[in-house]
Amino acid sequence: MEPFKLPDDFLFGTATASLQIEGGDRNNSWFRWAEERHIKDGSHCIVACDHWNRVEEDIELMKALNSHTYRLSMEWSRIEPEKGKFDDEAMAHYRWEIEKLTAAGIVPLVTLHHFSNPLWFENAGAWANPQSVELFERYVEYVVKNLGDLVADWVTINEPNVYAFSGYVTAEWPPGKSSTADYLKVSRNMIVGHLRAYRKVHEVRSKMGLSGTMVGVAHHLRILEPKHRTAPERLLARLADYLFHEIFVVGTSEGKLLPPLGWGYPVGKGRYLDYFGVNYYSREMISLSSNPAMLFVKLERNEGAPVNDLGWEIYPEGLYRFCKKYWERYRVPIWITENGTCDASDSIRARFIYDHLWQIKRLIDDGVKVERYYHWTLMDNFEWLEGFSARFGLYETDFQTQKRTLRPSGGFYAEVSKNRGVTQEILDSLG
Ligand code: FCB
Repeated sequence: MEPFKLPDDFLFGTATASLQIEGGDRNNSWFRWAEERHIKDGSHCIVACDHWNRVEEDIELMKALNSHTYRLSMEWSRIEPEKGKFDDEAMAHYRWEIEKLTAAGIVPLVTLHHFSNPLWFENAGAWANPQSVELFERYVEYVVKNLGDLVADWVTINEPNVYAFSGYVTAEWPPGKSSTADYLKVSRNMIVGHLRAYRKVHEVRSKMGLSGTMVGVAHHLRILEPKHRTAPERLLARLADYLFHEIFVVGTSEGKLLPPLGWGYPVGKGRYLDYFGVNYYSREMISLSSNPAMLFVKLERNEGAPVNDLGWEIYPEGLYRFCKKYWERYRVPIWITENGTCDASDSIRARFIYDHLWQIKRLIDDGVKVERYYHWTLMDNFEWLEGFSARFGLYETDFQTQKRTLRPSGGFYAEVSKNRGVTQEILDSLG
């Protein structure tokens, strides 16, 4: 390992999602999913990290990390607990949280949808409902009218590809369906939902006389590689890449629906991104299967490669490959909206961070405008289907006592943020 420096205006921070940390809300799709005992380790999101009651304490944790920015999400079910009825108190709570962040010198990046839905929306068919786009847009308008003066930077939707795939193909996430027809509807509606939200955020903020609005999607990007590099596998890997990445990226960035989602431009040809958001974790190998529901695609880990606690391959080069590709295509700033690893013993996280930041340095040297890095995540939290067992935090969370303890890798990250790079001194302290 050698020292390196990122630009002085590069922003470091962490990312979280409301459902994973806040606790206290019974009105959303993941609360019900946990009640129905789908979580692998039997844990539950009803308390999570109790962040709703510990905002100030948690901002102190960010300050101790020398964070310049923080990505948080709004819980739609709190803000609009019943269809068309908005809760000004919940909104005031988020406003207060954002004021606290700003006062601490931490730039907020606000996600409007991060996997969880209000129950009324879920019961009405969630994103498969033809009205979902209008319903989402109305909620977006309310939030931006209430926060737009404080928040310039927005993520409309987190990982629409993962949401649609896990909820409507593998059926592991709510609403637990395996329906190609619904999968296509959901994907299409989320894309159009983003396009309309993109316009809405800009419209509301510009009516307030504000400029500098930055809106994008946090895309889940996973390197998909043919296992044996045979011609059929290469074809299959390209198909998987097209269905998992391309139709979502082109749809949300250019406003264009590609087959099998549809054709043409549902809300008009344009550019619907001010930055390109990258959530990057891993790589998977593709081979042929006999499962038509997965389009004969088999996903496997790369045998012999380094992995984290969840068996995800650690493949930093993939971050370089994706950022380069989408920079060359769209020429907008790239924000790494998520990157991190599951490592309960904290034995690989610091090196993981180093290796991924090194790729960012390479990208910047090659002229790619990478501007921000959000580490996933601030503290161990409710990791969806994996529950509390999956430990992604820079702080370790004791879910009994709610005590947060800085991990050594968190200390490393704090120093890197402070120096906007890795100094020899930091490397020496790693031992
Ligand atoms: C991403 C999600 C995030 C977290 C990480 C580990 O796909 O956006 O909420 O679960 O994975």
